[in-house]
Amino acid sequence: MSDRLIIFDTTLRDGEQVPGCQLSTIEKVQVARALEELGVDVIEAGFPVSSPGDFHSVECIAQAVRKPIVCALARAINSDIDLAAQALKGAERGRIHTGLGTSDQHIRYKFKSTREQIIEQAVSATRYARNLIDDVEFYCEDAGRADNDFLVRIVEAVIKAGATVVNIPDTTGVCTPDIFSEKIKYIKEHAEGIDNVTLSVHCHNDLGLATANTLAAVQAGARQVQVAMNGIGERAGNAALEEIVMIARSHPELNLSTGIDTTRLFHTSRLVSSLMNMPVQANKAIIGRNAFSHSSGIHQDGIIKNRRNYEILNPKDVGMLDSSMILTARSGRAALQQRCQLLGVELEGKQLNVLYDRFLQLADSKTDISDQDILSLTENFSERKERATLDYLNVTSGKGVENSATIRMTIDGVQYESQSSGNGPVDAAIKSIKKITGNRMTIREFLIQAMDHGSDDTGKVHMQVEFDGVLYYGFAADTDIVNASVQAFINAVNKFPCEKLVQL
Ligand code: KIV
Ligand code: ZN
Repeated sequence: MSDRLIIFDTTLRDGEQVPGCQLSTIEKVQVARALEELGVDVIEAGFPVSSPGDFHSVECIAQAVRKPIVCALARAINSDIDLAAQALKGAERGRIHTGLGTSDQHIRYKFKSTREQIIEQAVSATRYARNLIDDVEFYCEDAGRADNDFLVRIVEAVIKAGATVVNIPDTTGVCTPDIFSEKIKYIKEHAEGIDNVTLSVHCHNDLGLATANTLAAVQAGARQVQVAMNGIGERAGNAALEEIVMIARSHPELNLSTGIDTTRLFHTSRLVSSLMNMPVQANKAIIGRNAFSHSSGIHQDGIIKNRRNYEILNPKDVGMLDSSMILTARSGRAALQQRCQLLGVELEGKQLNVLYDRFLQLADSKTDISDQDILSLTENFSERKERATLDYLNVTSGKGVENSATIRMTIDGVQYESQSSGNGPVDAAIKSIKKITGNRMTIREFLIQAMDHGSDDTGKVHMQVEFDGVLYYGFAADTDIVNASVQAFINAVNKFPCEKLVQL
């Protein structure tokens, strides 16, 4: 009998707190449903005290998913815990995840407190939470840098106070696998009551060791792993869900099983990536675009002779397709629909027609349409009316010519035209837009990413635009990167909460 490894997903909490990854409540529920279908055991849905929006999202997720435990984060403060319990009211099975810093660094310089006071606060918060809900997980923040004997004391104290799960985070990602493994072993061997609760770990990737440390902790006896899809999370991110799950599956000698339907990994990864505007690096283990592509002659020859010469995983096991069926301008709706089904994209009502129109436009300018292209065409899939739309864009650029742009835009039903020059075609076009909307916004981040290869590729543009001290995120994809850049800017402008977009 293999041991069950509990998959605690924190994509919607640690992942979502990354700048640029913020989701609307509807999008969070969409991700939570995808995580439920993927088979995660626990969904950390958010941090209710952080904002009314987060509180509402946790409430909605608690009602939307039935199978996984829905967890809400709370500092070890009664008012945080009250809100977390309230947000979880509709959950089939709810859990409060509370805790505080346990390293001397945090105790002295964050809380200006003492070890004794920290234990008191931990015990009081755990008791308080247990009076509101049956399932309470306690996190020892910065355990990676905490003294092991102190960890044993606080772990024993919160277990006595009613904690059902104890979480040991390497918050700063400083540990090496040996150090982290020793820490987990030490707690397992010395903390009274530890065998009656679930021992969890939460590893950050600051030194690129999040997955290795998580694995080392599991080998030392931890049975819950806190992970995030695509490894997203604070700073360099958290341990990647897909990596831990596929390690467990590829190594029978570990004797571990999970409840994850691995064939849904690719779809879930791309859903999270597109909703959060967070590209997946091409060489990302398990679900990156290149994870199963072989380019050198020697490797290709080896693969043709026997796939296992260079592949330890079957792409189908993680939900990647053998892209043998190429979609082109001659493909019909049925082929497109079938590809969408394989990619896990559900099309409703008129969406197939809308998608097919978008697909034909792209196929006119690009010979082969990849799965990435299809997923990008379904991004922002709604017939929502935008306040500002681009009707016409003409740019002049090149060596020895002045870069200029002419645009026509409709804003709140009225069409405007303007022209500008700039240091490049994108700069000229953005300046033309600013002539209409006023120079009230600043681009803070501008990222262009090609999806596949070749000069006919689609470019994805991610932009952060600051307006009134707040950052708004714009996204667009097109084979014309100037058009994609302008559309991404307009996508961000459409999110400004101002009454008057036009300032002429
Ligand atoms: O990194 C960390 O310590 C956390 C805790 C809230 C678990 O995210
Ligand atoms: Zn974290």
